[in-house]
Amino acid sequence: MATTLVTGVAGFIGMHAADALLSRGDRVLGIDILNDYYDPRLKYARLERLSERHGRSFHFERVDFADRHDLDAVLSAHRFDRILHLGAQAGVRYSIDNPHAYVQSNLVGHLNLLEIARARRVEHLVYASSSSVYGGNRTFPFRVEDRVERPLSLYAATKKADELMSESYAHLYRLPQTGLRFFTVYGPWGRPDMVMWIFTRAILAGEPIALFNHGEMERDFTYVDDIVAGIVAALDRPPADDGSEKPGGSIGPHALYNIGNNRAEPLGRMIDLLEAEIGRPAIRRHLPMQPGDVSSTCAEIAPIQSQLGFVPRTTIDEGIPKFVRWYREFHGLDDQRGMSPTSSMATASPREMVG
Ligand SMILES: NC(=O)c1ccc[n+]([C@@H]2O[C@H](COP(=O)([O-])OP(=O)(O)OC[C@H]3O[C@@H](n4cnc5c(N)ncnc54)[C@H](O)[C@@H]3O)[C@@H](O)[C@H]2O)c1
Repeated sequence: MATTLVTGVAGFIGMHAADALLSRGDRVLGIDILNDYYDPRLKYARLERLSERHGRSFHFERVDFADRHDLDAVLSAHRFDRILHLGAQAGVRYSIDNPHAYVQSNLVGHLNLLEIARARRVEHLVYASSSSVYGGNRTFPFRVEDRVERPLSLYAATKKADELMSESYAHLYRLPQTGLRFFTVYGPWGRPDMVMWIFTRAILAGEPIALFNHGEMERDFTYVDDIVAGIVAALDRPPADDGSEKPGGSIGPHALYNIGNNRAEPLGRMIDLLEAEIGRPAIRRHLPMQPGDVSSTCAEIAPIQSQLGFVPRTTIDEGIPKFVRWYREFHGLDDQRGMSPTSSMATASPREMVG
């Protein structure tokens, strides 16, 4: 039975990925710092769900993976076969006010995981990158072969730097790795700082929502179950160290893939679907573009389709109602359309469009 070390296991994607691995009989050693970038109660609730569903196959340790000594101390008691590194300081806009958090978690943390992988000779390290590395890329859809040297935020710069650090470890130590560039992930147990959550909350409360770039935004929204299917497929297939060129251009054992839906959905369509499921109209406020943001994303997914058999299955027409239903249930909202416990008239601004 394989054991996977999952970092950021109390996070949105980490919880879902751990759940999928445990459900098929793998063991998971999960780590997380449980920081308060967003309400930690949601992180505790995710951990509780994993423990309830999987009992002793799931083991959790609270640790800061940017602290190498603490990390080594915690991991010394455990063995694992591979690593799924999903923990990070996420978010584009938060990096404008909190740059050091990104250097710690995303650069120092990534190096620490690379060193652990190297010392333990794990069979595969799969790590999270982001569509934000494409910055202001003008060719659509975004391809892993595109040159991505113009990040529009520090968050994007750290994710690109992670890919470069991984490439050097694949070359120097032949460490098999796969980097996954996620495109705007949404679904049950999602992130309160992201656009879908923030708009859902505001529409339920009768508050206005902020449409940056006057609503002229498109996103390749990816349902979390599709992301998880891609993660599990990637984990099971470490890239071969055979000198062949991998997606992303490495000739070491290091592959890079986009995971998206391959559809750029206008923000307006997402809001229409939220309104339909919630049963009340959004109050839309048009605002200019925000610094660090990009107006459109779309993933080219041919490499992950052909190499890992990945097929996105959930359109936003199915996924958005599922998210809204979970949101109502999680918050104990009754089924009276449009009811919400709190309401203020401040405009709800999405902090995150990309992740
Ligand atoms: N959700 C998206 O749309 C999206 C899009 C692109 C990329 N990503 C990437 O996917 C990964 C998972 O994202 P998510 O949406 O689940 O985010 P999340 O914020 O819900 O989860 C990240 C988890 O990492 C933990 N963490 C952060 N720093 C840590 C540290 N120093 N030590 C230990 N734990 C730490 C946090 O406490 C959190 O629980 C991240 O790497 C993120 O950058 C997400």
